[in-house]
Amino acid sequence: MRSLKTLLLASAVALVASASWAADVKIGFVVKQAEEPWFQDEWKFAEQAATEKGFTLVKIGAEDGEKVQSAIDNLGAQGAQGFIICVPDVKLGPGIVAKATANDLKLMTVDDRLVGADGKPLEDVAHMGISATKIGETVGQALVDEIKKRGWDMKEVGAIRVSYDQLPTAVDRVEGAISVLKAAGFPAEKIYDAPQAKTDTEAALNAATTVLNKHANVKYWVAFGLNDEAVLGAVRASESVGIATGNIIGVGIGGAESAINEFKKPSATGFFGTVIISPKRHGYETAMNMYEWIANDKAPPMLTLTAGSLALRGDYEKVRKDLGVE
Ligand code: GLA
Repeated sequence: MRSLKTLLLASAVALVASASWAADVKIGFVVKQAEEPWFQDEWKFAEQAATEKGFTLVKIGAEDGEKVQSAIDNLGAQGAQGFIICVPDVKLGPGIVAKATANDLKLMTVDDRLVGADGKPLEDVAHMGISATKIGETVGQALVDEIKKRGWDMKEVGAIRVSYDQLPTAVDRVEGAISVLKAAGFPAEKIYDAPQAKTDTEAALNAATTVLNKHANVKYWVAFGLNDEAVLGAVRASESVGIATGNIIGVGIGGAESAINEFKKPSATGFFGTVIISPKRHGYETAMNMYEWIANDKAPPMLTLTAGSLALRGDYEKVRKDLGVE
C-alpha cells in the first residue's frame, strides 16, 4: 500500500514536472514574408502544435538579413530553445547557423534550404521543403493538358517563366514545368524569362509586363513560377496589356488565400489552377519536430520533401479538404 502511494506521488510529481517543462519551451518561427498567406497558414498550423503541447510560439517576420540576425538574438535573449526559419536569402546559411549556435538555439529550416559558400545545401541543418521538381512537373502537365484541351497550336503559344533564380527551390519548380512542356513539343525558344526582384505579385507583374510588351505578336500564353503570387502577377500583367482571359493559362503553386480569392471571383480569370501544397505539414509538423527535439531529445528527420496536388477553380475546396488544409 505504502509503495503504491509512493508510486502515485512520484508519478504525480513527474506529471507536474513535465507539464511545467512544456510551459517553459519556447520556439521561434521566423518567416521571410509574413504578409504572404502561405506563411500565415504555416504560423496558424504551428500555433496548433503549440496549443496541443503547451509551448510558446514566437512568430517573427524577417524580410532581410539584418532582421534575421536580430530575430535570432531576440529569441536567444527571451530564453527560446530553438527556432524554425524560412530565410529571405538562402546564402545567409553559414551566418544563420553561427548565430543560432552562439545563442544556443536549435535550428530547423522550412521551405527554402540554406546553402553554403559553395552554393550546396547545408545538409546538417534539418529541413522540410516541397518536392520542387515533381511539383513543377505537375504544373507543366496541367498546362500541356489545358493547351491541348483548348486546341491551341503549340507554335502559337508563348510561355512566361516568372523566375527567381537565386533560390534553388524556385529554379527546380520552373525547370520541372519546362521539362514537361518541352517533352510535349513546346518550342524552347518561346519560353521567356521574367525575372522578379522579389517573390511577390507586384514584382511578378512588373517582370511579366516586360515580356508581354516585348512579344506583343504572340497569340496565346501560359505562365508558371515559384508560387501563386508569381503566376497571379503574370495573369494581372496579361489583363493590363489586354490579353483575353481565355488566351492565357496560369498554374501556380501554393493553394492558400491568394489562389482561393482568385477562384472565388464570379468569373474565371487566367489563373487556371494551382498545385496545393501543405502548410499543415510545413507549420504543424516542423513545430512538433522542434518540440520533440527540445523536450524529448528526439532529433528531427534531416530532410523531408512534401507533395502537392493539382486543384482547379471547380475542385479546389475538395482538394484542400482531402489534404487536411482546411
Ligand atoms: C517558398 C516560396 C513560398 C512557398 C514556399 C513553399 O518559400 O517563396 O511562396 O511556395 O516556398 O515551400
